[in-house]
Amino acid sequence: MLVWSGHLKISGLCRSNTIGIHALQVNWPYSPGTRGSPLQYTLTRHELDEISAGFDSNPLKSSSINTRAYTDPKFHLIEQQSVFRNSWQFVCHEEKLRDNHSYVVTDAQGASILVVRDGEGELRAFYNVCKHRGHELMSGEGNVRLITCPYHAWTYNLDGQLRGARRSEHLLDFNMDEICLDQVQVETFCHLVFINLDPDAASLKEQSGELGNEIMSYAADLPQLTYAHTLTYRIKANWKAVVDNFLECYHCPVAHKDFCSLVDMSTYKVTTHGIYSSHMASAGTTGNNAYSTEDASVTVHAVWHLWPNTALMRYPGRGNFMVWRFYPNGPDHTLEQFDFYFETSELQEAEVEAIKFIDEVLQPEDIGLVESVQRGMLTPAFRQGRYLVDPENSGMSEHAVHHFHANLLNAYQSALATDGNNPTDDNNQ
Ligand code: FES
Ligand SMILES: [Fe+2]
Repeated sequence: MLVWSGHLKISGLCRSNTIGIHALQVNWPYSPGTRGSPLQYTLTRHELDEISAGFDSNPLKSSSINTRAYTDPKFHLIEQQSVFRNSWQFVCHEEKLRDNHSYVVTDAQGASILVVRDGEGELRAFYNVCKHRGHELMSGEGNVRLITCPYHAWTYNLDGQLRGARRSEHLLDFNMDEICLDQVQVETFCHLVFINLDPDAASLKEQSGELGNEIMSYAADLPQLTYAHTLTYRIKANWKAVVDNFLECYHCPVAHKDFCSLVDMSTYKVTTHGIYSSHMASAGTTGNNAYSTEDASVTVHAVWHLWPNTALMRYPGRGNFMVWRFYPNGPDHTLEQFDFYFETSELQEAEVEAIKFIDEVLQPEDIGLVESVQRGMLTPAFRQGRYLVDPENSGMSEHAVHHFHANLLNAYQSALATDGNNPTDDNNQ
């Protein structure tokens, strides 16, 4: 179960401008009339019982969660609040934010976030929103000494403090010292930068236990690797169907014949821990049909799924690291983004081949599977199934899917209406 506590560790002048998760607006993509209203969605006990009926903490006798969680727009909204707005989201490799005055703009569930290293070397993250009229302040990435709004040119220091507001000298009760950008939590974890919109979330290091040590033991060269490539996919399936598929290799011998020649499936082991799972296998020892690993310095397939929507991995080949993200784009669409980091930004031939293999073989195979699953979930013929698990925790076992679903149910639990605020299904949909 996910249990953590923590305090906001944000320093500087703008501490008072951190805003709580419950003040956030939920954007309903299908009903523009509600956009901009401060909404908080809750689940009824009946809805939670329906989703979790048949689910057991023992995966050997558990059924999967009900497909309503994959198809009902309400669960998309619940997840915005209870899964995504309080979890750590990947921004970039630290290389982009190594120097003082460097910045990167990212998107966190529809909110633009500015991450910046200030003049004193402190990493900060802000809602990328001007305090005058709400215009976005910065875009892309780069290096800047002063944040200047492109609308009316208000300026802010890199610690978020308002520094200049043109023609404000006539205003009454206008104190520039009291105006700061709203900060959000930011953390460098394994040389990767993450943000969290929840000011009360514990640090990723604290939440993830041994994950950091595990990753660095497999990828000690991570700080030296550099960004090389991104692949992007738009998939017609709920993000959880994409993660479910990612978390098990039961389908690999059926659907990914070439992949099964790349790794030694007999060595594949999957272990689950708190907010992450580890998926480890040795590289195949005979020639493979995926891509050349002839001069490989990395001889393992090491993959981690980090709650809720990030995958971190290292494949057989030259020094490499990949960060995959699965973003919900409505209840039945997912935006998948893979960043590749290599020893040099120029790809070697084997890396071009590896990316081509993922893009032209592995991904089309998986996308076909999950889109078919989503269509199946939309029929009345499928509401839940079983997890095929084995006691050896092999790669073919689906216990990491069960683990992911247990964490999901725990997140849904936090959206349960409390006594005295127990809306019926009708007024809560
Ligand atoms: S909105 Fe930024 S200066 Fe007006
Ligand atoms: Fe797959």
